[in-house]
Amino acid sequence: MNYEINVIFSCGVEAFLPAVDVWLVVDVLRATSVITRWFEIGGAELFPVKSTDEARELTRTFKNSGRNPILMGEINGIPPEGFDLGNSPSDLNPENVKSHDCAVMSTTNGTVALNEAASTGSPVIAASLRNYSAALDHALTFGKKIGIMCSGRKRSPSWDDTLCAGAIIKRLQELLAQKNLEDPEHIRKIFMSDSAKISLLVWESGESNLLGCIKRSEHAVYLERIGYANDLEFCCQLDAATVVPMLFTDERGRNFLKSVSGNANPYRKSQIQNSIANSNPNSNSNPENSNLKFEELLNYTKSTTAKPENYFFINKSKPKK
Ligand code: MLT
Repeated sequence: MNYEINVIFSCGVEAFLPAVDVWLVVDVLRATSVITRWFEIGGAELFPVKSTDEARELTRTFKNSGRNPILMGEINGIPPEGFDLGNSPSDLNPENVKSHDCAVMSTTNGTVALNEAASTGSPVIAASLRNYSAALDHALTFGKKIGIMCSGRKRSPSWDDTLCAGAIIKRLQELLAQKNLEDPEHIRKIFMSDSAKISLLVWESGESNLLGCIKRSEHAVYLERIGYANDLEFCCQLDAATVVPMLFTDERGRNFLKSVSGNANPYRKSQIQNSIANSNPNSNSNPENSNLKFEELLNYTKSTTAKPENYFFINKSKPKK
């Protein structure tokens, strides 16, 4: 009856990953939040890859075989050159999502973490604060040894992912406490790794002021600086979705995600749409700035003196055909 929960604080650092029944891969800011959003609004298969080159190559392959992929992701938080979309949830809308039969996605940490978890052979689910309850519920159908792989940042822990890991652990505790009440003859316990205990502490320190807490993270500060402040609020919408993006392998051994559960919780839907509508000032509203070159954006992200208000620029959506 014992459960085990283990948290890996960052992808790319552990030589040996623990043997688990299932992985929950977390990148709150922003890859798994965007992935959740993709499926919330009806997206089809999404291929997470490890590099921008691999993403471009796979997109070409799909196009040559008659598929209609959309290419999305980020480097330093901004859309890589030639990509259709960046990695902001406000880049996604039902039109650009549904007009493609798949997505190819490359991000600095999130898509790397998904592939790393997949390499262990255990089932993999993408989790974020937006879908953490649904993701955990589904994960428990695979067994009692749960691994949470945080994507982290620069091969180090990130505050936002650790916070989300803590939210998942708290929910597991609550679920088991409830089961123990109903069935006191079979008490269920959880063995927590030290990293799991730390994550729980982070969650408990921040759950009453989630947005304020997320804003403490280094990546949140960075995203605010480059004009993506509204993404933070969006990524903090707890359990706004019930989609469970789960990893599968196609006939050529390529990893792809598809949703194994229902749609966004209808009760929250209007809230989500409003938040998207009021969201990123970088989105389609400022066409003047949409022609800035990728190098220029990249330089901005490295500069400490540039003012974000001069760079509300990112509009990489392709014109509709
Ligand atoms: C990542 O994979 O590191 C990200 O999701 C970064 C971002 O979206 O800014």
